Amino acid sequence: MSDVPVVADLAAMSAWSEAARGRGERIALVPTMGALHRGHLSLLAEARRRAQRVVLSIFVNPMQFGPQEDLAKYPRDLPGDLAKAASVGCDLAFVPDPAGMYSPDFQTAIEVREVSQGLCGARRPGHFVGVATVVCKLLNIVRPHVALFGEKDFQQLAVIRRMGVDLNLPVEIVGLPTVRELDGLALSSRNSYLSASDRQRAGALYAGLSAAKALADKGERRASVLLDVAMAEIAGRVDRVDYLEVRAADDLKPLDSTDRPAVMLVAALVGGTRLIDNLRLGS
Ligand code: PAJ
Repeated sequence: MSDVPVVADLAAMSAWSEAARGRGERIALVPTMGALHRGHLSLLAEARRRAQRVVLSIFVNPMQFGPQEDLAKYPRDLPGDLAKAASVGCDLAFVPDPAGMYSPDFQTAIEVREVSQGLCGARRPGHFVGVATVVCKLLNIVRPHVALFGEKDFQQLAVIRRMGVDLNLPVEIVGLPTVRELDGLALSSRNSYLSASDRQRAGALYAGLSAAKALADKGERRASVLLDVAMAEIAGRVDRVDYLEVRAADDLKPLDSTDRPAVMLVAALVGGTRLIDNLRLGS
């Protein structure tokens, strides 16, 4: 199977989409930072089902990384990514340069206020401003009819949905379930940082979330009880729990009880790697 054609130039990308739109074709965009795994490929496969044209973007977005974060060492494998994308069917890879995306006098930022607060927003100041800004730029350049994101990054998805509504973006935002390893660990490009023993311990996040979900399925609604059950699985196996919280699944407001559709979200440090995961409760 031949690899996917690559476009780096922003104007060429927009012209490609314009031509596809002119032919009446529906365009789907799957934004990524590359180092593709089965989670990303599930988004591409669903994109294929929803549109005639599938665009994958690969851009390790400097604006969403903090100064102490892993921008320089973030895994990059363009040839591997293109081969994987081809295996599920993808029409074009948009791979812009940082200099093309951010000119020296770039000075605009999109802040989605409330949904970005707390959780990852508290530990990664400016992160969601970087995410919202780059996603808005990608949507404006590619102009897809539909854009697909993973629930793995639950707060990110909520931020992007809010931005879409607030800014009247003419695109359908679709969220898809988390793809996991056999022990439940959510696939992530950052899992490649884990040593063999850290990889084993990383299973604690899903073990904790699923213990809470099992209890919620039996009718327990008190967030404090559900959090205790999850924490008992997680705390002893990871190096630090950044947060473990129950929030409303739609607007991410804190919840004491899972009377509304709820999600439990966790971030933890395992051997220097920060992992996040989440699971809906009681549905
Ligand atoms: P990245 O981490 O590469 O993820 C790209 C997309 O894949 C996101 O929508 C993410 O939620 C989804 N994804 C990651 N792991 C997944 C899994 N295990 N199952 C299902 N989907 C998964 O998220 C980003 O890049 C960036 O912040 C981006 C949105 C591209 C903006 O720069």
